[in-house]
Amino acid sequence: MTHALVGAKSGWGKSWLCQWWTEDNAPTYDYLLVLDYKDEYRGLVKADLAHWGIAGPDEVGVDAHAWTDVLEQNGNLVLARHRLRTEEWREVCASAIRAARRLDGSVLVVIDEAHFVAPQSGSYPETIEGLATTGRGEGVSSMWVTQRLARLDETVVAQMMVRLLGGFSSTADLNKVGGIVDYPEGVHNPQMGTVRGLPSDLEADDGAVPVRKFTKDGQTQGSEWIYSTDGGDTRRVDSRALDMQSTHYGPEGEGLTTPG
Ligand SMILES: Nc1ncnc2c1ncn2[C@@H]1O[C@H](COP(=O)(O)OP(=O)(O)OP(=O)(O)O)[C@@H](O)[C@H]1O
Ligand SMILES: [Mg+2]
Repeated sequence: MTHALVGAKSGWGKSWLCQWWTEDNAPTYDYLLVLDYKDEYRGLVKADLAHWGIAGPDEVGVDAHAWTDVLEQNGNLVLARHRLRTEEWREVCASAIRAARRLDGSVLVVIDEAHFVAPQSGSYPETIEGLATTGRGEGVSSMWVTQRLARLDETVVAQMMVRLLGGFSSTADLNKVGGIVDYPEGVHNPQMGTVRGLPSDLEADDGAVPVRKFTKDGQTQGSEWIYSTDGGDTRRVDSRALDMQSTHYGPEGEGLTTPG
């Protein structure tokens, strides 16, 4: 059982990385539940690695027993949010998570845009927090993915045993990173020049520079991350080196023209 945090600013490549990580880990679990806020994990379905479920207005009242049946029948499920407000989505997530925690067998739960599901401000269903605090032996692992680390509930963040963090630009998020890692947090600020005190194993090929995002002709090719565990394992990861079988459907979106 592992609880993992994946965080970086918008467009850094979180969902791509999590899709890769999910693909890499799903075969070792009996069940997979991906709570897909922005419909970014369809590639797992297209690659026949999971079934697809759509959570729309009709699913808001569906209870955990019904979700248990759905998970037992499907094994691996990507549940995409469709025309639901954040509060309604949170309710669906709570029931599906309750179901996942009740399953007999090992389960991997992936929560994208997790700051909407377990927000720092306001309350949210206890079963969601319970997912992060489940102890050893319960067979449930989780990945919490967020672009706003400072807005993800501290109780959840504090339980994470493994972290994959990329670049951030918000001061609040960078401060939060500083509170949870024991290497210089400046490596997560792409605006920095040289990161002082960066251990040599976290350096890039061209020195103690912050994590980088690689683009070509406006398309993201990959990005850098710092992986760290409570056990003291830290390493710099370049997602371009990771081999993903399924296609990622994270829309890069249209940019804006440059004035002048
Ligand atoms: N290693 C990679 N190889 C190829 N493409 C990548 C890689 N990493 C990211 N991308 C592409 O970069 C774009 C942004 O990635 P992604 O959708 O994962 O960002 P994100 O951090 O989840 O953003 P948001 O917070 O807005 O959801 C996507 O088009 C994705 O396919
Ligand atoms: Mg994303």
